[in-house]
Amino acid sequence: MKQISVIGSGTMGNGIAQTFALYDFNVTLFDISTESLENAKKNINRNLQRMVNRETISEEDLENTCRNILYSDNFNSVINSDLVIEAVTENIEIKKSIFKDIDSKCPKNTIIASNTSSISITKLAEITKRKDKVIGMHFMNPVPIMKLVEVINSKYTSKETTETILNLSKKLNKIPLTVNDYPGFISNRILMPMINEAIESLEQGVANVKNIDGIMKLGMGHPMGPLQLADLIGLDVCKSILEVMFDGLNKEKYKPNNLLVELVNDGKLGVKSGEGFYDYSDSKKAEYVSKRFS
Ligand SMILES: NC(=O)c1ccc[n+]([C@@H]2O[C@H](COP(=O)([O-])OP(=O)(O)OC[C@H]3O[C@@H](n4cnc5c(N)ncnc54)[C@H](O)[C@@H]3O)[C@@H](O)[C@H]2O)c1
Repeated sequence: MKQISVIGSGTMGNGIAQTFALYDFNVTLFDISTESLENAKKNINRNLQRMVNRETISEEDLENTCRNILYSDNFNSVINSDLVIEAVTENIEIKKSIFKDIDSKCPKNTIIASNTSSISITKLAEITKRKDKVIGMHFMNPVPIMKLVEVINSKYTSKETTETILNLSKKLNKIPLTVNDYPGFISNRILMPMINEAIESLEQGVANVKNIDGIMKLGMGHPMGPLQLADLIGLDVCKSILEVMFDGLNKEKYKPNNLLVELVNDGKLGVKSGEGFYDYSDSKKAEYVSKRFS
């Protein structure tokens, strides 16, 4: 395992690319959007510079890490990879078409992993002719900081593929934990109903944003409140995950709350769009709770 490709350079893709590059893998970061690639490059450079300032890494590490990443909008640049990690929008049709492309163009021994938060790895594997080499590699946000990799075995994943991904995750100084392939796996099956409930409480006027988050931080010891976490994940991503769980597990409790749907329709997606439950415009950052919810 030396050459890694990451498809999708959004919130997760750029963190995954940075992490592999820091541990001296050659990384190709591919996206169809050049704007997204430019933002990814800025983000990665800023994160690495912050690490140098905190003396977590040296100036030389920064230079090597930057050198290890190729930013590309040409799909041919991902072909010669030992591992391709798909991290595009949480939409099964988009993911299926990418899996088909990777499967038809990459060598037979290439492992294909998805960073999906909820979509069936078994269904993605069935698109390919290498079902045993398809696996879920679910990194947490922000990738360079969070220790966990939730490793999802589809019903076809071979023991060899799982072992390879477990060992690789350890090389990134992460802790991999395996789960079986159910909608939302473990992390989101437990997290998303909490976020949905927090949004419903807000909608019903039980408390304002600050107090809902404050109660969960102070009372439950969570490092971040559920509404702030939803903004960090992306409200569109939260909605998509809940929809996959609602479809797959067929229980009302997973249905995305009306307010969440409304915010996504209004383009308020959290940190990445500049506004969600909090305002992230430059001057105010996350301090200011949007007037509508106070
Ligand atoms: N945001 C989180 O906290 C989080 C955490 C864990 C897992 N995930 C999962 O990671 C994946 C990516 O989420 P994200 O938050 O980074 O999304 P994002 O919206 O920030 O980025 C998605 C990227 O995919 C690109 N893209 C879309 N279609 C493409 C295609 N056909 N080919 C190449 N690139 C394409 C977009 O241009 C964009 O840059 C999703 O499956 C999501 O469920 C997200």
